[in-house]
Amino acid sequence: MKKESFQVYPLIDRKKNGGVLTAKEIKWFIQSYTENKIPDYQMSAMLMAMFIRGMDGAETAALTDAMLESGKQLKFPGKNVIDKHSTGGIGDKASFILAPIASAAGVKVPMIAGRGLGHTGGTVDKIEAVAGFTTALDLETFAKKLNEEGLVLIGQTPDIAPADRLIYALRDVTATIDSIPLITASIMSKKLAEGANGIVFDIKTGTGAFMRTTRDARALGKSLIGTSKRFKKKAVALITDMNQPLGNAVGHSNEIIESIETLKGKGPRDLTDLSVALAAHMIHLAGVEKSFEKARAKAELMVSSGKALAEFRKLLRSQGGDDRVVDDYGLLPLAKVRTEVTANRSGYVKMFQNEQIGLLLILLGGGRKAKADAIDHQVGFHFHKKIGDRVKKGEPIFTIYHHAHQQATADEIRARFLKDVLTVSVMKVKTPKLILEKLS
Ligand code: URA
Repeated sequence: MKKESFQVYPLIDRKKNGGVLTAKEIKWFIQSYTENKIPDYQMSAMLMAMFIRGMDGAETAALTDAMLESGKQLKFPGKNVIDKHSTGGIGDKASFILAPIASAAGVKVPMIAGRGLGHTGGTVDKIEAVAGFTTALDLETFAKKLNEEGLVLIGQTPDIAPADRLIYALRDVTATIDSIPLITASIMSKKLAEGANGIVFDIKTGTGAFMRTTRDARALGKSLIGTSKRFKKKAVALITDMNQPLGNAVGHSNEIIESIETLKGKGPRDLTDLSVALAAHMIHLAGVEKSFEKARAKAELMVSSGKALAEFRKLLRSQGGDDRVVDDYGLLPLAKVRTEVTANRSGYVKMFQNEQIGLLLILLGGGRKAKADAIDHQVGFHFHKKIGDRVKKGEPIFTIYHHAHQQATADEIRARFLKDVLTVSVMKVKTPKLILEKLS
C-alpha cells in the first residue's frame, strides 16, 4: 500500500488558524518527526499551534494512537489488568499501598512509573530507597513478572512510546507542557502501551498540583476518560486535593516508611483513605467485585488481614529489593540530624504553598536541580500539622531530616517555610475534603 504523504507547512498553518487535522495527517506528522524527517523547529511550531488552538477528542485520540504506535505494545488477556495513574504531587506515595492491595485482591497491576517532574516526586525514585530494588527491567521480563507475580513496577523504557519521549523533551523547553490534549496523549500513549485493560486516574488539584483549579483538573479527567473510552479501556478518575502533602511524610525513605506503616494499618487517615478508594476502584474495574461497596470492603480487608503487606514484601523480593526493610526501618537510608520547625504564632493551619514544599526538598538534594542529578534518599520532612489543625506558638509543625553539613540549608528552609509557605489564621479552619469528585 502506498504511504500517504502531506506537506508540513499547510498542516501547521491550518492548526495555527484553528482548523482541525485528520487522523491520517496527525499520524503522518508524528511518524515523520520520529523518523527525523521533520525538524524540531517545525514540530515546535505545531506543538504551539496545538497548545493555543486546542484539539478535539478525535484529534487527541489520533495523536495518542500515533505516539502509541511509535513503540512496542503489550497485550494481556482477561479483564483484570488494571493500572493507576497519578498526575503527581507532594508526598504522593499511594502507589506503594494501592498496588499491593489491588494485587492481593486478584487484580494484575502493571506499573510503568515515572521519576520526579518539576516540584513533584517520582515513584521510581522513591522505591529505589530500598537497597537492591531494580526498576530497570525489559518489557519481556515485565510481562513475565506480571503473569507470574501479578504485580510489577518498572521505569519508562525506550521501547514504550518513543515519540512521546522526543516530543516531551521539546514541550519541556517550548512552554507547551500544560496543554490538556498534549498531556492526555502523552499519558495515554504510555498507559495503553503497557497493556492495562482499565485505568484509575488520580487527578490532583491545588497548590502542589500541575492542575491548580478543580475546573482544569475536571477538564483533564474528562479528556483522559474520553480517550480511554475511544481505545475501549475502562476508566475512572478521582479529582483529589493537593493543597497539602498527602500523608505526613515527604522525601524518599520517609515516604517508603509511611507506606509500610499504612500497609500495616497504622498510616495517616488521608493517605489510607485515598489509597483504599483508588484500590477499590481498581478492584471494581477489574470485575473482581460487582459493586464499589464490596470492592471497598475487600480493599480494607486486604490491609487488615496483612495480605497487602505480604504482597508488598513479595514485590520487593521479586525485583531484588531487601524486604527486611518491612520489619526494620533502620535498613532504609535516613539522615541523622533533625531540625524542628515550630509555629511563630497561634491559630489554625489555613494554607500551605504546597509546590514550595517540593522545591524546599530539592534544596536538600531530595529532588533534581538538573536532569543528571542523583537523588538523596536520606533527606525529607515529617509534618505534624495539617490544614485545619490547631497550632500553638512554639509547637512543632514539621521536622526536617538532613545531614550535619546541611544545617545552614535547614535554617533557610525554616525561614522560607514560615515566610512563604505556611498561613496560620486566628479563625477556625475546616479540614479540606480529600476526594472532591469522581468522573467515570
Ligand atoms: N506526565 C506525562 O507523562 N506527560 C505529560 O505531558 C504530563 C505529565
